[in-house]
Amino acid sequence: MKKYLKNILAATMVLSMATALAACGSAPADNKEDANADGAENSGKQTLTLATSADFPPYEFYEGGEIVGIDAEVAKAIADKLGYEFKIEDMIFDAVIPAIVSGKADIGMAGLTITEERQQSVDFTDSYATGVQSVIVKEDSDIKSVDDLLAEGANHKVGVQTTTTGDFFTTDDIEKAGKGTVERYNKGADAIEALKVGKVDCVVIDNEPAKAFVAANEGLKILDTQYASEDYAIALGKNSELTAEINQALKELKEDGTIKGIVDKYIKAE
Ligand code: ARG
Repeated sequence: MKKYLKNILAATMVLSMATALAACGSAPADNKEDANADGAENSGKQTLTLATSADFPPYEFYEGGEIVGIDAEVAKAIADKLGYEFKIEDMIFDAVIPAIVSGKADIGMAGLTITEERQQSVDFTDSYATGVQSVIVKEDSDIKSVDDLLAEGANHKVGVQTTTTGDFFTTDDIEKAGKGTVERYNKGADAIEALKVGKVDCVVIDNEPAKAFVAANEGLKILDTQYASEDYAIALGKNSELTAEINQALKELKEDGTIKGIVDKYIKAE
């Protein structure tokens, strides 16, 4: 586990520097003021804008044209508690951290794992959930465990969502180690489609989305052995004054059972 973690550190460092640089070009004015100024009804409240990638059930996904899920509801609960209007900006996952860095959004929640590399460009709140990288295969796959992917002489095609921790882990431990190739997709669902048609041999993705994708698609299963565990948190701009108030709100929402209620609504105990 240590080794994987060290590996992501190196990989994500390069990436987060690249995204930070990419984001430097366009730094809009303070988003909260902006959103308020052109908001439809003028409540006089500032707006808290959430950047997310609504392709990741049960954390964020579309239901009847509306973005729902654990992150969407926790963010809304935080905004309500702190007295902000609330707005969601949906984007590809790869754009979430740059949106925070550039100030396009105030907070990022996207089942976002705390990594040291990301911490170079954004701050994170306290963690509100945990995730585990899981491996999805076809039911008749000859890949039986994570060890099969990491074995000497292994040569598999692994599907991931681009710039996720699943991408970073497998890039280091499989692609760079000469044990296979990594195919990167904008969405986890696209990686799943590639698995179904045999373009990749497995998909590495967080456990709860993995369960949702397997439940929604015939003929797939999740391997028993897991890849790496992670903490999810909310990303904010470096040294944002919002971090302390959001941590306080999170603490209260944990203590009064709101977060547990939201999680239980979306993740049924097995
Ligand atoms: N936990 C992983 C990461 O932080 C994957 C998150 C993907 N989230 C999403 N909304 N697609 O890299």
